[in-house]
Amino acid sequence: NNNIVVAIDGFSSCGKSTIAKALAKKLNFVYVDTGAMYRAVTLYFLRNEVDVTNQTQVETALNNIHISLKTTDGQVSIFLNDEDVSEEIRQMHVASNVSKIAAIPAVRHAMVKQQQLMGKSINIIMDGRDIGTTVFPDAQVKLFMTADPKIRAERRYKELVVKQPDITMEEVFENLALRDHDDTTRKESPLVQAADAIVLDNSYLTPDEQLEFALNKIKPFI
Ligand code: C5P
Repeated sequence: NNNIVVAIDGFSSCGKSTIAKALAKKLNFVYVDTGAMYRAVTLYFLRNEVDVTNQTQVETALNNIHISLKTTDGQVSIFLNDEDVSEEIRQMHVASNVSKIAAIPAVRHAMVKQQQLMGKSINIIMDGRDIGTTVFPDAQVKLFMTADPKIRAERRYKELVVKQPDITMEEVFENLALRDHDDTTRKESPLVQAADAIVLDNSYLTPDEQLEFALNKIKPFI
C-alpha cells in the first residue's frame, strides 16, 4: 500500500482539527479526529459509570463500544453505538474526564487498533496526540502543532461560551493546562514530538497561512 498518511499531533486547542479539516477538504483525504474517539469512549464510561480501576469492567465496556465517524459537507459527526454524540462530547463534563480515560492502556490499545485500520488503505489526515509516534510512526508527513497557552484558552473559550454561557476563562485555561499535563506525563504513549515531525506554532498565523505551510510539506508525496 502506498496511501498517504498525514499525522497532526500537538497540545489541546492548538487548532489541529481546523487545519486537518481544511487539508482533508483541499486534498480530498479522509479526516480522522482521534480526540473525538477518546471523548466518545469517555462519554460511554461516564454514562455507564464504568469503574476504571476494574479491568473486567473496562474490557466489557470497550467490547460494547462501537465508534464511527462520518463526514458530510466538510462537517464531521461522531457516532457512539449509532447515536450522534458530536455535540455532547464537546461539553466540559467530557473534557474534564477524557485525559484520565485516554490514559488507560486498554482504551488506547482499542482506539489505536481501530485508527490503524482506518489509515491502512486510504489517504488520511489524522489528528491527535500519538499519531506520529504510535499510531503511524511511518506517516509520510508529521506536523507537531503548538501555540501560546493563553491564545489557546481564548480560542477554546470563544467556542464553548456559545453553548455554555456560564463557563469562565479560568475554567477553560485550567482544563487545558491539566490536559496538557496529563497527556505529556502519562505512561502509555504520552504526547511527545516525533523526531521527524515538523513544528508548527500557529499563535500568530492565520488559518490560510497554516494551510499553505502544511500543503507545501504534503505536496512532494502526492
Ligand atoms: O483532541 P481533543 O482535545 O479533542 O482530545 C481530547 C483528549 O483525548 C485529549 O486531551 C487527550 O487526553 C486524548 N487524546 C489522546 N490521544 C489522541 C487524541 C486525544 O490521548 N490521539
